[in-house]
Amino acid sequence: MRKIDIFDTTLRDGEQSAGINLNTAEKIEIAKQLERLGVAIIEAGFPASSPGDFEAVNRIAGTVKNSIVTGLARCVQKDIDTTWEAIKVAEQPHIHIFLATSPIHMEYKLKKSPEQVVEQAVEAVKYAKKFFPLVQWSAEDAFRSDREFLVRIMNEVVAAGATTINVPDTVGYASPQEYGALFKFLLENVKGAENVKFSAHCHDDLGMATANTIAAIENGATQVEGTINGIGERAGNVALEEIAVALHIRKDIYPVETGIHLHEIKRTSQLVSKLTNVVIQPNKAIVGKNAFAHESGIHQDGVLKNPETYEIISPALIGEGVVPLVLGKHSGRAAFRDRAETMGFNLSDEKLNKAFAEFKMLADRKKEITEEDLMTLLTEQQVQIEDVPLFELKMVQVQYGTENIPTATATVVTPEGHVKNVVATGSGSVEAIFNTLEQLVPGDINVVDYRVKSVGKGRDALGEAVINISYDGVSTTGRNSSQDVLEASAKAYLNAINRHLIQASLRAQQLTM
Ligand code: KIV
Ligand code: ZN
Repeated sequence: MRKIDIFDTTLRDGEQSAGINLNTAEKIEIAKQLERLGVAIIEAGFPASSPGDFEAVNRIAGTVKNSIVTGLARCVQKDIDTTWEAIKVAEQPHIHIFLATSPIHMEYKLKKSPEQVVEQAVEAVKYAKKFFPLVQWSAEDAFRSDREFLVRIMNEVVAAGATTINVPDTVGYASPQEYGALFKFLLENVKGAENVKFSAHCHDDLGMATANTIAAIENGATQVEGTINGIGERAGNVALEEIAVALHIRKDIYPVETGIHLHEIKRTSQLVSKLTNVVIQPNKAIVGKNAFAHESGIHQDGVLKNPETYEIISPALIGEGVVPLVLGKHSGRAAFRDRAETMGFNLSDEKLNKAFAEFKMLADRKKEITEEDLMTLLTEQQVQIEDVPLFELKMVQVQYGTENIPTATATVVTPEGHVKNVVATGSGSVEAIFNTLEQLVPGDINVVDYRVKSVGKGRDALGEAVINISYDGVSTTGRNSSQDVLEASAKAYLNAINRHLIQASLRAQQLTM
């Protein structure tokens, strides 16, 4: 069977989506889960783009062992040097360098002639090869580039030492037939094509990313790039879970092997959705909450008689609902730890104790603890940052009546360890809470987005609040799940402020380095 390497760019192309704001701890968590999922390569970020990206790529390169870790760089020495500093700790250092090749990008964006572009690409690959054994070179906007020019530049970068050639459909313009034909043409015409990997990288602007990626595989691609849940700029990248499951279910026509552990898909998808705060549309293929739900009577009847009447994929294939949850309010720490480990969490003793205490509190208040509750609770502990002093909510109280002005009171421990009481009114309960907590910090805070939803089903379900604030012009996201949505909202607001403080302290540390 032909091997197709899965290259995951959730933490780079995916993280470029509007509104996504992951901190280093969250990125490491996602990277560890991608490793468990079995992706061949993890693109952990763009080290030269910001100190935060550098730190995350460096930490992931030092943590992940079973997947190759890469970082994106422009074809300039400074980017390549920075990427080397971030990646050199990795087992197999890999760099992904890119340069645009389409007429429109070369003329208007780069303001360079085709000759200059070839020269810059070759120099960059040669320079990168001094450090990295694995060098991927991407022709940005390849699909809209001149084919003969692609052959010319690819001949040169392969001769310069590139080990992978990526052929992105950067703006999602291709049709499956055209994209497949481009792979066939390049594989037949680029000198030495048989010695390097050819990679597909599709965006979903016309809703054709999955079909285009499959067409590339049919025509010889040996690597495919995409993101979990299809997140990414504009309409996003191809959803990797769709590719992996499509190749598995239709192995009769696609005799290829991806190395993906399909039973890790559901958990990976949920983790990415939770930490990026990007909601998965209910009817999303493979991972949407309705992907396996049968509503019509005729379908339900058929499925009861034989699931294969209407089910081409079994939920268990992607790890949905496989191990029943047997935890309740009488469960002990050992059972809790065991379950957390089965779910892929490896918490320190301190974090496990905190998660266990939260679990006990929840079990006292909620009839049935679901897998989703546990996942929420454990994820929140896992990505908690401990080494920066932060605000901690001790108490929040809201007075609301249809005839009263809503008033919120809160008691908070400040990062300096002082207990502070604050109070304010608002036109609604939530605004009163936000106005109250805003007094804790100097500066200007605007709420850009605020959402609440329930985690799972039932009237006693956990409430999850996600808030995006602009604090002195810098966008930060906060999140919390609690049994009460007002408490979750207050904690999410403080979480956003805390994340802002962590970022600021990181920037200050980097300036003094
Ligand atoms: O879509 C694209 O062209 C990219 C490149 C940086 C590979 O993401
Ligand atoms: Zn892209």
